[in-house]
Amino acid sequence: MEKREVAKLFIPLGASLRLVLIVTPSFSIAGGRCAPTLDVMLKLLFIGDIVGRPGRDIVNERLAGLRREHSLDFVIANGENSAAGSGITAPITRSLHAAGVDAVTLGDHVWDQRGWETDILQLENVCRPANLPASCPGWDHVIMESRGFRVGVFTVLGRQYLNMKSECPFLAADRMIKQLRGQTDAIIVEIHAEATSEKQALGWHLDGRVTAVLGTHTHVPTADARVLPKGTAFICDVGMTGPYGSVLGREVEPVIGRFLDGLPRRFPVATDDVRLSGAIVEINPTMGQAENIELLTVRKEADASNPVAAD
Ligand SMILES: [Fe+2]
Ligand SMILES: [Fe+2]
Repeated sequence: MEKREVAKLFIPLGASLRLVLIVTPSFSIAGGRCAPTLDVMLKLLFIGDIVGRPGRDIVNERLAGLRREHSLDFVIANGENSAAGSGITAPITRSLHAAGVDAVTLGDHVWDQRGWETDILQLENVCRPANLPASCPGWDHVIMESRGFRVGVFTVLGRQYLNMKSECPFLAADRMIKQLRGQTDAIIVEIHAEATSEKQALGWHLDGRVTAVLGTHTHVPTADARVLPKGTAFICDVGMTGPYGSVLGREVEPVIGRFLDGLPRRFPVATDDVRLSGAIVEINPTMGQAENIELLTVRKEADASNPVAAD
């Protein structure tokens, strides 16, 4: 049993009146101390891989409304495909922050845009995968704060069918949790991986130690959102934010052609059926565990006068 502290705060309320507030801080799933006065659920939206201009545009158009409509406290988005489908740039990162994204995460496409390895050093609230070699530039996590509650997020790359120079995601997650404990009241882990087995195994490995383990990378939302027995929300993939009239965000015909004859081709970002896809996690502020997780899908309305731009 962890020791619980009792503190008395004296808050001046005018010349003669004083309110004595007795608070009992509680300890979170992440090991940090929770904000003691919150008695409502906190809500976090994790937006799946943003693909090209169609993905960026729907985030720009809809996120402010979603923040209001769902009373979101935190928004995280994976931006690894936000620049023409591959990588990210500094102006795009700033535009995502301006649209209401608190933290931008990345995946195996982290270094696809030229100059990003230096630009990432100039930017805040964006992190590269935590299990890349320590010599790689960029932060390995982001900490956000809302209403006195601190949420840390980091990404680990899977190692099944992903050819990156990354350390074991399980051991990397253990190390990051230890590092973030005490600095955060809740921890969100993004597992950016190909294999559902690896994602599920990490979810079980971290159950009860983090608030959520959320999958990305495969660009297809999965129907397995649930809260695991010890309070960790889990989903294999929160889906892609971009054109669903596509193969993983790219135009259909070149991809079919590549499968048929193997010849190299360009794979332009598609434009049909644009959706914002993500997961909303409700966080109990007392202990930092997840109370609920649900997929969120927002479709872009067809507008003939304003066709979707690719790139
Ligand atoms: Fe990826
Ligand atoms: Fe992706």
